[in-house]
Amino acid sequence: MEAFEDVLGGVGMVDPVVDDGDDRIIVRPVSTKGEAKKARRLLIQEIADMGRATFPKDWINADDRFGPTLVGAFLDDRLVGAALVGPAQEYAAALSATCRGVWPSRLLDDALQLVGTEIAETPGVAVVPDHRGEGIGLRLKRYCDLWAAQHGTYLMFSRPTNKAARRLNEKAGHKVLEGDVSFVTQIIDAQDRPLTGVVRIDPARDGSFQAVRQLTVADGLMRRFRVGQYPAVSRMDGTDDDHAIRVGSGQIAWYEWDRSGTVRTVLVPAPRLEHDVSMGLRHVSMRS
Ligand SMILES: CC(C)(COP(=O)(O)OP(=O)(O)OC[C@H]1O[C@@H](n2cnc3c(N)ncnc32)[C@H](O)[C@@H]1OP(=O)(O)O)[C@@H](O)C(=O)NCCC(=O)NCCS
Repeated sequence: MEAFEDVLGGVGMVDPVVDDGDDRIIVRPVSTKGEAKKARRLLIQEIADMGRATFPKDWINADDRFGPTLVGAFLDDRLVGAALVGPAQEYAAALSATCRGVWPSRLLDDALQLVGTEIAETPGVAVVPDHRGEGIGLRLKRYCDLWAAQHGTYLMFSRPTNKAARRLNEKAGHKVLEGDVSFVTQIIDAQDRPLTGVVRIDPARDGSFQAVRQLTVADGLMRRFRVGQYPAVSRMDGTDDDHAIRVGSGQIAWYEWDRSGTVRTVLVPAPRLEHDVSMGLRHVSMRS
């Protein structure tokens, strides 16, 4: 417990309790098939592409294991918001599809095993329209982070698809990438030495950006994923300095979180990027 409290408890970043919201709202995993169906329906109705997410097979995660889990926000027993959280399956699938046959299979298996235990994903958060702007989305988001941390994961990925979701992620302490940069990952050892090449995920399309947050401290992990962006500088950050853009285009910015949950970036020269792991790629190949 201590390890994740170090990061999640820091500077008001993740507090599963309402800040100033309505304390009649209760956020918890769904506990009946009926609740699960309503939560799923809300997510699919409100978020494009949600239909292809992996929902819990048995509707309810009765054993509270690290698997796809539907979370609900309830007001007087009425579902007013929902989220889906679980292992980073979409990322694992993209990594597998792209690196299979390129990386030695043992390395890929190892990487996928690491994804399966270290990385969580929140494929969607939605609030019913007449209860938006009341802090419910933020509570759901924070609940998902806390749930993932309690289930031993180190990183949380999500894909905010609009401005409200971007702000929501930032408010919950996530680093949200601008649309003109790529998400990059690499496996490193306990001494921060690279164990794999840098894997690039294409800039998301259709205004769908990447967001990431470190949930727990990394102490004691022999190998872990680090995450960052390439190029290091985004025009959409408001940079209109061409020199900065030129210099940034040769660099990766790795994100590093301190124990208070604050993220900073560490700039390193970009090596030749080894693979493009595009979330889109998988969908293209599924259609063809
Ligand atoms: C995104 C969504 C879940 C936010 O839920 P919500 O309960 O309204 O959000 P909250 O009231 O908790 O707001 C939290 C923060 O998000 C940001 N935010 C929420 N709605 C926003 C909007 N319309 N525009 C800009 N920022 C917004 C704000 O920064 C807000 O904090 P602040 O008011 O203190 O500045 C909700 O708008 C929604 O269900 N949208 C449709 C589904 C969707 O697009 N989901 C996200 C894709 S994964």
